[in-house]
Amino acid sequence: MSDAPETALPPRHFLNLADAGGDGIAAILADALDRKRARQGWPKGRADGDAPLAGFVLGMIFEKNSTRTRVSFDIAMRQLGGSALILEAGTSQIGRGESIADTARVLSRMVDAIMIRTDDHAKAEELARHADVPVINGLTDLSHPCQIVADLLTLIEKGKALPGLEVAWFGDSNNVLNSIIEAAGLFQFNVRVACPAGFEPDARLIKTAQSNGARVDILRDPAQAARGADVMVTDTWVSMGQAHADEKIAAMRPYRIDADLMAHAKNDALFLHCLPAHVGDEVTQDVFEGPQSVVFDEAENRIHAQKAILLWCLGKVA
Ligand code: CP
Ligand code: NVA
Repeated sequence: MSDAPETALPPRHFLNLADAGGDGIAAILADALDRKRARQGWPKGRADGDAPLAGFVLGMIFEKNSTRTRVSFDIAMRQLGGSALILEAGTSQIGRGESIADTARVLSRMVDAIMIRTDDHAKAEELARHADVPVINGLTDLSHPCQIVADLLTLIEKGKALPGLEVAWFGDSNNVLNSIIEAAGLFQFNVRVACPAGFEPDARLIKTAQSNGARVDILRDPAQAARGADVMVTDTWVSMGQAHADEKIAAMRPYRIDADLMAHAKNDALFLHCLPAHVGDEVTQDVFEGPQSVVFDEAENRIHAQKAILLWCLGKVA
């Protein structure tokens, strides 16, 4: 045996879609689709036939609320043959000020991958810098890449080809929109953002997507943004950690997705929402419950997306 120390590869973090790149995300989507198809009708907690993460543990840090991300990562690990545990900020030492760097080094000795949901994206980056295991962004104020993998999966399943797709976003520019814009650059689709003045997405993200071949338009007129769109998307007007401001809500009202706005889109346009939804605010009941809405497929796909993301991070998907 050689005395030379093993040169460990740096962990594959998933803090933004660009960490995997277009090829990596395409591989993740293909794996997610294959695994989803292979287990149709099975009980949700049964492991996939190959149980590729048998013996692996995921640690999940939550500094913000969650239903879908929390449950889908847990079920994803069970379906991959592994397990998951949760650290709530309030009941762990993180909530008493233990540093991110020390938390990263301790968890790296105990779990095989870490997911974090937090406010400041820099905290997720700090965790990744100090962790010897992959760190996955389960939502920060900057981005929500896992959600967008589930969204892309949903669109592909519904027969949409990503390149050239016209995606229209309505309302507040937030973490979910930022990741959609990032995805547009990776898959060359176009994003029309209909929002009030002062609520535009980050100019740097737009520039990056545009330099990667996507068209990103900022529009004030929601009908113009909806015209001929393939996908209509919105999200809450008040993201976690933001103050509820009456002025902001008033500015958002013209951007609510209702049946009239949907009528401007293509007949086969799909309605997406990451959930939780505030029906009556950003979307009307008839659209949310209507035939073009695929929001619960989108929610289920969080599991299938998460599984493939975990496998990519752990080097089991190319
Ligand atoms: N869409 C999403 O991330 O949902 P949760 O906040 O419930 O995790
Ligand atoms: N933009 C929302 C997404 C919730 C899943 C938020 O950050 O609260």
